[in-house]
Amino acid sequence: MDSYIGVFCLALFVITQAFLFDDVRFSGNGETPTFWRNQARTAILNRVRQPRIEHVAKNVIMFLGDGMSIPTVTAARILKGQLAGHKGEEDSLSFDKFPYIGLSKTYCQDSQVTDSASSATAYLCGVKANIGTIGVDARTHHGDCNSQKGAEVTSILDWSMAAGKSVGFVTTTRVTHATPAGLYANVASRGWEGDYYTRSVTGGCKDIAAQLIDDYPNVQVIMGGGRQFFMRADQTDPEHGSNAHYGRRDGRDLIQEWRNGQHNLNRNYQYVWNASAFNKVDPATTDSLMGLFEYSHMQYELERNDTNHERAGEPSLAEMTEKAIRILSKNPKGFFLLVEGGRIDMGHHEGRAKLALYDTIAFSNAVAKGDAITNVNDTLIVVTADHAHVMVIAGYPSRGNPILGKVDDGSGGLELAADKRPYTTLLYGNGPGYSLVQNQRPDITNVDTIDKHYHQQSAVSLGSESHGGDDVGIFARGPMAHLFTGVLEENEIAHVMAYASCVGDYTNPSDCAASAAGKR
Ligand SMILES: *[C@@H]1O[C@H](CO)[C@@H](O)[C@H](O)[C@H]1NC(C)=O
Ligand SMILES: *[C@@H]1O[C@H](CO)[C@@H](O)[C@H](O)[C@H]1NC(C)=O
Ligand SMILES: *[C@@H]1O[C@H](CO)[C@@H](O)[C@H](O)[C@H]1NC(C)=O
Ligand SMILES: [Zn+2]
Repeated sequence: MDSYIGVFCLALFVITQAFLFDDVRFSGNGETPTFWRNQARTAILNRVRQPRIEHVAKNVIMFLGDGMSIPTVTAARILKGQLAGHKGEEDSLSFDKFPYIGLSKTYCQDSQVTDSASSATAYLCGVKANIGTIGVDARTHHGDCNSQKGAEVTSILDWSMAAGKSVGFVTTTRVTHATPAGLYANVASRGWEGDYYTRSVTGGCKDIAAQLIDDYPNVQVIMGGGRQFFMRADQTDPEHGSNAHYGRRDGRDLIQEWRNGQHNLNRNYQYVWNASAFNKVDPATTDSLMGLFEYSHMQYELERNDTNHERAGEPSLAEMTEKAIRILSKNPKGFFLLVEGGRIDMGHHEGRAKLALYDTIAFSNAVAKGDAITNVNDTLIVVTADHAHVMVIAGYPSRGNPILGKVDDGSGGLELAADKRPYTTLLYGNGPGYSLVQNQRPDITNVDTIDKHYHQQSAVSLGSESHGGDDVGIFARGPMAHLFTGVLEENEIAHVMAYASCVGDYTNPSDCAASAAGKR
């Protein structure tokens, strides 16, 4: 009799449990406690099994999301998941899955909140510098040409070239913009992208485009936008028409000079300015590739296929990344590549989060491509940002609430602020989204906040939303990736890349990854 009761109770228990664990009984996405316990156990075991790779990195790829703050990463991850039809929060960007994560302190020598120029000097050249300056130490004051003389520093690109590696860079901004310029230029002002700007500067400082072409014929991959500073003022841009405004005043055609230089070096070279010509480039037979796909910056990912914005077609960041890796990886000594998602920053400056988030997803796709086509045992991949922005993810929206939408009240309506008006989950601390209508915050009840033109509201009015001073993430995989854990000063990033690949100050095998395992 007792055993019958036992069996009955057991059966009742099983039925109740099955009923309790039926997905529909759990809120949100319906995850059960068992799901979360298993998820955590799997995550622990993955970390326990994760080997440290303690030898020299043959290749280093740095992916730089300009202005990719931690809230930007979180919001882009949710958007990516929601675009795939999920709730979104549980989704992952490609680099979320990297085994080693650290934080970077981005303040620069003279500013609590940095810009992309001083920041590039830190993570590429290994020293902190003054805001607005590139490839020079902190003796150089922003805009003072004479103060840059003797203060020049070298970068991971120089160090890698000296070690016989192939080098290149890819960006969605002008190739003369602050981030890529950190690899090859020395300027007291990030604004000196072409001689249109330097011709009025006293002291005879050379513009960034001319520095690239004159001093770096061995950079094998140059891709991005910015034709304006490479063409003469009397030349006609293939997409934009006249180049009269920003065109070169020194009579130089730097695109033709680049071709001549590559020819003299006996390189199999290609210059392309649109997607179809880019697609025809065979990396197996191409030594050097220059792609200038826009007159100024390349298009935002959301507008790349939009004929209102783009005329001749542009490759994606992932496509450029793949082509660059296939060209550079032919060198048996390895390569260094910088890939910048440069317009995440610009979407934020415009106060239009949607632009920034779509560019972050495109950046994540480029990282995924780099991860997929390189071997974790010989290629160090570092993903980071140069500074934060002032976008926040706020309120208490329900699980799966559209990340670009308004905060909901959990029962089909909208949550209202103290002013009895709804508000979006994404907001900016400052920027162009500030406005008052009859002394009140505008009522967005009937506004489509998911539209790409929508400016999220901001607390303080600024024509251009500002950078943020909070730390940014560093996500790494590959040889010596575990050195990117903890809270790092931003300039340490250049040093860890050099240590891992035994270049620059860390060329001596007894002082780099070559002997790291023996030092424990
Ligand atoms: C953009 O255009 C390219 C080339 O025509 C195409 O392969 C790609 O799928 C398009 N992307 C989007 C987001 O429409
Ligand atoms: C792309 O560039 C090539 C080379 O200049 C040119 O022949 C071709 O017409 C261009 N394609 C488009 C769509 O403009
Ligand atoms: C990396 O090296 C380890 C140890 O030698 C090996 O077990 C693993 O399969 C390698 N991974 C790849 C992707 O080659
Ligand atoms: Zn910026």
